[in-house]
Amino acid sequence: MQIQLENQPYPSIQADALVTYVFDKEDKFDGVLGDIDRAMNGRLASLVASGEISGKALEIVLIHFPEGLAAQKLLLVGAGKPDKFAVADLHKIAGTALRQLKTRGAKKIVFLTREGERGPAAAQAVVEGLIAADFESDKYRTEKKNREIDSVTLAGFDAGLGANLNAAIEQGRVIAESQNFARDLINEPANKLTPRMLAARAEAMAKEAGLGIEILDERKIAELKMGALIGVAQGSVEPPRVIVVRYTPANPRPGAPVLGLVGKAVTFDTGGISIKPANNMEKMKYDMGGGATMLGAMRAIAALKPSVSVIAVIPATENMPGGRAQKPGDVQVAMSGKTIEVINTDAEGRMVLADGVFYARQLGCTHLIDAATLTGAIEVALANVHVGAFGTPREYLDTFLESAKAVGEKMWPMPIDDEYQQMIKSDIADIRNTGSGKGGGASTGAWFIKEFAGDTPWIHLDIASTCWVDEGRPWLAKGPTGVAIRSIVDFALKM
Ligand code: BES
Ligand code: ZN
Ligand code: ZN
Repeated sequence: MQIQLENQPYPSIQADALVTYVFDKEDKFDGVLGDIDRAMNGRLASLVASGEISGKALEIVLIHFPEGLAAQKLLLVGAGKPDKFAVADLHKIAGTALRQLKTRGAKKIVFLTREGERGPAAAQAVVEGLIAADFESDKYRTEKKNREIDSVTLAGFDAGLGANLNAAIEQGRVIAESQNFARDLINEPANKLTPRMLAARAEAMAKEAGLGIEILDERKIAELKMGALIGVAQGSVEPPRVIVVRYTPANPRPGAPVLGLVGKAVTFDTGGISIKPANNMEKMKYDMGGGATMLGAMRAIAALKPSVSVIAVIPATENMPGGRAQKPGDVQVAMSGKTIEVINTDAEGRMVLADGVFYARQLGCTHLIDAATLTGAIEVALANVHVGAFGTPREYLDTFLESAKAVGEKMWPMPIDDEYQQMIKSDIADIRNTGSGKGGGASTGAWFIKEFAGDTPWIHLDIASTCWVDEGRPWLAKGPTGVAIRSIVDFALKM
């Protein structure tokens, strides 16, 4: 999909559709919308009067052969109340428009921005929304629907900001394409994406992006004594891998922070001996979503070149109930030396992260973010609305949440009090891999990881309920969402 800026007056741009947005407020016809309404002899105003145009968020109004416009259609997307509106909402508005027009066979569309949103941040949000909205999950369908938008023209932006706008468009493209790269990985069935295949995909991406990469195989993993990861992996005939991807800025300052991105990559989670029910088990192909998130973030970071060093550590394994599988009650010794009583083999994500997080610190990471499809409990707490965000110290988490807010990704701070640590005490070992007692499953899972993060500033993103959506949204296809990548990239750029 081509995206370009256009300075010629929008009414004369030839296209299948012109898209703009309308606010939910008393006087809807200020600025360009007033001009369009006048050219259409007040037809829009009459649609307001009849109640068809209200401006409420993501409302869709499609008008065919609009007078005064060279475009064949005019699509108005509701932008909601002006006081609730943020630039990040353009992401959803642009994405919703693209998905609407795609199903109607449009090839060439024009996105006309409004008076308040004529700068680079707006252009970036629009581009990210368009490209993310264009992703479809039908990779293995032999007959595709074959409906593609070929080009989008961005109109109404501040012509005086040309160079900045073009940079913002490129930045938006890189970020959204990296998000789609991750979504493609998350979508892969487990027979097309074993830990070794994931490592190969990461290697190809790193080469293309100009990132350093090292793949630790099962021998190296054993040498490093990653006993928690090995405990999970031993139930499968597929060997585990640890994927290490490095970004180093041009002039790294000695003593500067190093950001570690640790992602859970369980390429299939059967639950192991504590096996999961058959219903919905196919979904557990996306249990590598945390790892894919970090690979997507690294791909964008390579292009956007923040001033901090970033190292991604991605432990990858299957969780299978093979003859050599670990059993409930087994004790594993993690790389850090901590001993773990395995109460439930289905609580495997925290085990692979234990060694991933510890290894990231050994590699010199001074700040950590982990992402994982860790618990069903986070869905109980937050549904598929918010990512559960844990972290210490609190200021570190708060800075990250500001990035999430800026890019429009919903994340909610979750508790990590010491009481939850008490719940993972074991009678026989240092810690147990599930909470004793009732409830708090997302927090006890987080505490388990924190045992290995130690005093290093650390954020844990539980994306179990947000990494994948069973129902599409107006701006996003159903399936993998690529959530958290945009926040992580924004955070790295601001660090
Ligand atoms: N991969 C699952 C968590 C999950 C559940 C992800 C649903 C996506 C959708 C994880 O490994 C798991 O099984 N967690 C258990 C932990 C429990 C045994 C303490 C869970 O949440 O039930
Ligand atoms: Zn599990
Ligand atoms: Zn899992």
